[in-house]
Amino acid sequence: MSANAATPLAASRRTAGDALARATQRLADAGVAQPRLDAALLLAAAMGISRERVLLDGDRALGRAEQCYGGFIARRAAREPVSRILGTKEFWSLPLGIDVHVFDPRPDSETVVEAALATIPERSAPMAVLDLGTGSGAFVLALLSELPAAHGVGIDASAGAVAVARANAAVLGLDRRCRFIVADWGAAIAGRFGLVVVNPPYIARGDIAGLAPEVGHEPRRALDGGADGLDAYRALLADMPRLLADGAAAVVELGDGQAAAVAELCRAHGLRVESVRRDFGGIARAAVVRAAHTSRKGLE
Ligand SMILES: C[S@@+](CC[C@H](N)C(=O)[O-])C[C@H]1O[C@@H](n2cnc3c(N)ncnc32)[C@H](O)[C@@H]1O
Repeated sequence: MSANAATPLAASRRTAGDALARATQRLADAGVAQPRLDAALLLAAAMGISRERVLLDGDRALGRAEQCYGGFIARRAAREPVSRILGTKEFWSLPLGIDVHVFDPRPDSETVVEAALATIPERSAPMAVLDLGTGSGAFVLALLSELPAAHGVGIDASAGAVAVARANAAVLGLDRRCRFIVADWGAAIAGRFGLVVVNPPYIARGDIAGLAPEVGHEPRRALDGGADGLDAYRALLADMPRLLADGAAAVVELGDGQAAAVAELCRAHGLRVESVRRDFGGIARAAVVRAAHTSRKGLE
């Protein structure tokens, strides 16, 4: 066993500062991109204190947190994401529970929420929101937190994901305005919606193995977009016109470099891309899509 294997931190190095330095080095050796940040976040969680206190209280004794921290660091060194180790991820400033059944919601995906909110002329008006492939419920819960009179439906093919989304809605006090269904995209839906959001699996199957080791902890169904990454777009865009109320928009998350192909699929299904919003990295991330024959005025 190597010196930095998954054993509790040595008894002679019991201060938070020592533990943090040692864990940071171990994560750096494992190729973790932000080793000190992750080591500090995990130490704060193990000690039950804020990250700021971890950095300020370097002389504080680790005490009973030592073993827990050793376990956290072993998992992060095996490239499990911090959010999965801690079982929680912040999205749109909402704390969301995360487990093995759900995709870890990404900061880039907040672009979809921004684009979706920008389509809504009056945020206090009643509205029906549909979230296809809801995962943790990230999109629909973020939107309901901003739209006080809206109701939502979240759909996922994974029963485990739907259970997580329901629990998140309850914790956030949004469960009365949102229900979750296990189904294949919109197949179980009869009505029409004022807003549809979707972040489909869009990684080309052959690319998955080459992604960062952290991605290997995501459910395969949340990633695999088929041979060219576009299978899910093909399936759900074909059904989209039936799900959109008059003048309504769908906001579709895009993988890097997929904007043109998705626009082409939209055209093939009687839809048009009205605008594309870029994420903080400058990548075209969210397409605002409407029925080809409607204009934004249809909503006003
Ligand atoms: C990339 S994840 C997005 C999750 C969440 N919307 C987010 O952005 O964090 C894609 C989601 O689509 C779900 N999914 C995949 N195929 C599906 C299908 N045929 N019908 C419904 N959901 C599906 C997956 O289970 C997964 O939760």
